[in-house]
Order: sequence, then structure tokens, then C-alpha cells
Amino acid sequence: MSGKIRIAVLVSGGGTNLQVLIDSQNSGVVKNGEIVLVLSSKAEAFAINRAKKADIETLVLKRELYKDNAEAFSEDLKNILTEKNIDLVVLAGFMCILTETFTKAFADRIINIHPSLIPSFCGKGFYGLNVHRAAIDYGVKISGATVHFVNDIVDGGKIIAQKAVEVSEDDTPESLQKRIMEQAEWIILPEAVEKVCKGLIDKRK
Ligand code: GRF
Repeated sequence: MSGKIRIAVLVSGGGTNLQVLIDSQNSGVVKNGEIVLVLSSKAEAFAINRAKKADIETLVLKRELYKDNAEAFSEDLKNILTEKNIDLVVLAGFMCILTETFTKAFADRIINIHPSLIPSFCGKGFYGLNVHRAAIDYGVKISGATVHFVNDIVDGGKIIAQKAVEVSEDDTPESLQKRIMEQAEWIILPEAVEKVCKGLIDKRK
């Protein structure tokens, strides 16, 4: 096998992290991988517009259609990404829990960005503004972001990169979320993606 690592970015919302990855690909920060697919669990996700604008193939796999059947969702997702010959899966604001069926099939080839310093404020229920509300309520002075591999434990896989961000006295969940995105997520995610792509390329040799 040769060529770049084929990346699928999985999204559910605004897609600012996806945008940063697209920009990083264009600027050469991400050079060993190429985003070949953006898959959204929600039809209305703005991230889809960003992908289309960048001429990247998009797919919608509506999570709501699977109701409480996370297993069937994971199975279908696995089949789609296998069919598309995806080497690396990047979860960038993907609001779905994946079962072992998926995490085992793509073991060491799924990465996620989480908006706190794991192991703080992570695991089930810690998503979106909940994470930042919990950090403010606890009174931590430092939070940040973590990029990690995904296994079957929510936010439990091996850590790839972390960056700390100061919490201000007057922070709201919204202001903290914004600062963590700007000062941590958008910096460490592209760097981590490139690092993992480079590692996968080296393994091929
Ligand atoms: C980010 O805060 C990310 O850490 C979390 O979900 C959010 C996604 O934001 N997993 P966006 O869709 O990339 O703008």
C-alpha cells in the first residue's frame, strides 16, 4: 500500500475542528493524511457545508433512526468506513457512543478530541457545555483539551496530546468552551492527526 492515510472525520455539529483540519491539510500541517470522507450523524450539521465547500465527500448516517440500538449503528458505521477503505477515523464533535464492534474493527485507528484535561471531566455525560460547566463548578483553575485514541471505555483510550488553558474567575461555560477551542483544540488536533498519520505510514514501510 502507498499514498496518504485515508481519513474519515465524523461530526454531529458545527464542525470548527473539521474546518481546522481542512485548513491544516491546505497549509501542510497535515501532510501524511487526506480527509476523504466527512460523515455526520445529523442531517442538519453545519459541518457538512464545510466539507462540501472543500470538495470532500459527505455522508449522513442518522443516529436518531437507530434509537437505543447503538450496536446496529456501530455495525453500519463500520461497514461504511471499511467499504470506503478508511485508514484513520477522527471523531470531531461526534455525539455518538460507539460499541466494541466499531472500536475493535478500527483499533488504534480512531482518535477523539475532548474539551478537558482527561482524566478530569470526562466519561459518560461529559459532552458539550456540560464539561465546561463541571470544570467551573468544581473551581479548577486550569482546564484544556485532550486528543486520545478511542477504545470501548468512553474517553478512556491512550492519550496522544494535551494542552492546558487557564480558567478565569468570570468564565461562563460558553466563554471557557470558546477559549479552550481557540487555545487548545484547534492547535493539538491537527498536530495529533499528523503524528498518527506519520506513524501509520511508517508502519507500512
Ligand atoms: C468540541 O468542543 C470537541 O472537543 C467536542 O465537541 C466539540 C465539537 O465542536 N468533542 P465542533 O463541531 O468541532 O465545532
